[in-house]
Amino acid sequence: MAAGIDDMAIYIPRLFVDSADFAVARGVDPAKLKQGLGISKMAIVDTNQDPACLAANACLKLMQKNNVSPSDVGRLYVATESALDESKALNSYVIGMLEQVYGPDSFEHCGGIECKFACVSGSYALYDNSNWIRAGEAEGKSAIVVVSDIAKYDMGSTGEYTQGAGAVAMLLNDKPRLLQFDAKVTSTSIKNEYDFYRPFGKETPIVHGQYSNLLYLIQVKKAFEAYKKKALDTGIIKINEGETILDHIDYLCMHLPYSNMGKKALSYLLRREWRSLPRWKRTIEQTGMEEPVPKDPRGTIESILADEEYMTKDHEFTKLFTKTKEYRQFYEDKLASSLIASTMIGNLYTASLYLGFRSCLEFEFQKGVDLAGKRIGFGSYGSGSSAMVFSGTVQPDYKEIVSKMNLEMEIGERKKLSLEEYEEIHENKRSPDQSLLDAKKEFVLVSIEDTPESRGERKYVFCD
Ligand code: HMG
Repeated sequence: MAAGIDDMAIYIPRLFVDSADFAVARGVDPAKLKQGLGISKMAIVDTNQDPACLAANACLKLMQKNNVSPSDVGRLYVATESALDESKALNSYVIGMLEQVYGPDSFEHCGGIECKFACVSGSYALYDNSNWIRAGEAEGKSAIVVVSDIAKYDMGSTGEYTQGAGAVAMLLNDKPRLLQFDAKVTSTSIKNEYDFYRPFGKETPIVHGQYSNLLYLIQVKKAFEAYKKKALDTGIIKINEGETILDHIDYLCMHLPYSNMGKKALSYLLRREWRSLPRWKRTIEQTGMEEPVPKDPRGTIESILADEEYMTKDHEFTKLFTKTKEYRQFYEDKLASSLIASTMIGNLYTASLYLGFRSCLEFEFQKGVDLAGKRIGFGSYGSGSSAMVFSGTVQPDYKEIVSKMNLEMEIGERKKLSLEEYEEIHENKRSPDQSLLDAKKEFVLVSIEDTPESRGERKYVFCD
């Protein structure tokens, strides 16, 4: 049985910080954020928004635009790393909000959990729910997977450049109009790591930035190796002499903590895929230098990062490699469109990969490309750490959905925050009733109980 994404909806908070203002305030060259990391705006939640509101708003939009009623939904999963409670799952808050619109107990028959594994958990949620559909357990119902997060880092840290917030809700069924997942090729890698983690009670993560960048690349590469084997063994992709499997994947969507991480991931994968192919000679000639090798090629991530001579040369080589005709062509054809939304919004943790997917569809369609039958490869990464690589093909009815996509219109009119406003929100100095924007047709948080018997209980309302 087939399974895949039938439709998707996004909810992005309308407050944002401009990366140029932010850079100036932090004493950083604006070009570092804009050109170096690929960030132009970071979405910031208002004082009356939390990850549950973002998820419920995306979910409501998805249901309304598809005329899906609660009785059509068998499972509602929320994947997040911005959990509100150690025990109560985020999807229960979402169901509570949706029942304000659809009626009490309207989701009673439905099941679901909150999934956690940093940014990769949404991909696990999609995979598990697709298998629920493939196994014939869905009995004609759909599953909804919502990925929702607020990426927030310590003020003054380098992570603060890579914030953002938002949710993506995806409707899954056995006759998807948008993307059908390729069966039996999904591949994973996993390792106990401390690249990025958020201990209990701490609002912001502890991050080892450069370590996390390299670990991401290594883990995705490991999952990709396993994917390659499965894709060739199952015969979904066939390659000829001198080709790589990437030649047969039309688009790549990568986890995007910041837009330029997609470029880093592409150059890392291509260098390793192309090395043994005839095209490598002509590509490397354009760089004018030998590809550097670390002092200890089998060393740890720490030893590679500490090998300063190698790191400098490798950085230089990567820059030259990404200017070659072959890389530029591949980048423009297969990756560039998926990065556009990330530059406008920032890191959405679990939702970043799926915002990138949406961005790929919208901006490739705008170029006039017929997307039917195109294969999309996904590189999902979650700190801690695990990667998942999988793929799917765009379905014949995709136009029905993609032709109506309009990112700017769907975000709505945005308000640029002054640095003072941003810092007040960041340091939680405003209460939910001191929001900066008026809510329109959306759920908002009104209060959090602090009495001993009900501490942490959250109340939400739908604002018409
Ligand atoms: P940093 O270390 O300050 O930045 O922070 P940098 O020195 O690496 O510079 C960034 C880029 O800007 C570099 O480009 C510089 O060359 C360039 P690259 O060489 O890499 O292509 N640059 C400039 N460009 C133009 N003009 C200039 C200039 N100066 C420098 N004047 C870092 C970057 C990402 C480490 C930091 O923001 C951070 O720690 N972020 C949080 C962690 C993170 O996002 N890690 C990414 C991988 S892990 C992941 O994706 C998982 C995650 O989403 C969490 C989860 O799974 O839940 C984070």
